Amino acid sequence: MLKRYFFKIVLSVFCVGCLGCGQGSHETQNSRLVIAIDATFIPMSFLNDQGELDGFEVDLIKEVVKNSGFDYELVNVEWGGLFGGLITEKFDLVISSITILEERKNRMAFSIPYLQSGVAVLVRKDLANVDSLEQLAEIKATVGAQINTTSYYFLQKHLGINIKTYEKFGHAVIDMANKGNDGVVGDSVQVNYYFNKNKVLTQNARFLGSRMTSEFYGIVLRKENLELKQKIDASLKDLLKNGTVQKLHDKWSLGDFAVVPPA
Ligand code: ARG
Repeated sequence: MLKRYFFKIVLSVFCVGCLGCGQGSHETQNSRLVIAIDATFIPMSFLNDQGELDGFEVDLIKEVVKNSGFDYELVNVEWGGLFGGLITEKFDLVISSITILEERKNRMAFSIPYLQSGVAVLVRKDLANVDSLEQLAEIKATVGAQINTTSYYFLQKHLGINIKTYEKFGHAVIDMANKGNDGVVGDSVQVNYYFNKNKVLTQNARFLGSRMTSEFYGIVLRKENLELKQKIDASLKDLLKNGTVQKLHDKWSLGDFAVVPPA
């Protein structure tokens, strides 16, 4: 009888011990962070000629995680899959020019901001006498934006404009070059990039004003990952203070389209 009791105790201690082991290995696994990034946002993140992820945000996130002592793995995920994949724990961090928004904060956590940017509007040159969004609305223009982005939300505020949505921002600009829409709204860095790169656009499009909103980009995490958030914030703060973020901003020629916030 006593023996049996003893056996039970030993067994239960062993089980608790096992649970502990399990948790331990989970923690070690967690110190290798899986980071998702959408590689369709040149020069912030894209696939280079070698087929590797490259760009301002790729450089930045590598510095951030190294600086906080993590091992990491980068995965290329489309814009539409970023938030869902984070919440369902397919990855631990997301960096993809994601604007810190109150509505998004209900579901996810954000790091301190690493860049200030905003949306810019490009319209076709043959739209004469159109110099504002109000006028675009008056002529019931068709304007393109990437779905579920701040550009899309921005357009929704301008009743009368016919919004055409795209899965990728690049598709909106190509469509514009082919006269499939009258203009596009996007994050100013990308709008400027495509404007300069695509000859048809450079010749046939013009900016409507300058940057129209002020937005801050943050790294996105799961809400419950408080410890990770603290580490990422501390690391980012360091890199903002010691000029690393500004150096990367210069390296990728972000110019006035995005500004490094003070630490
Ligand atoms: N800054 C905008 C937003 O957060 C657009 C981000 C789109 N990013 C991307 N990688 N496609 O809504």
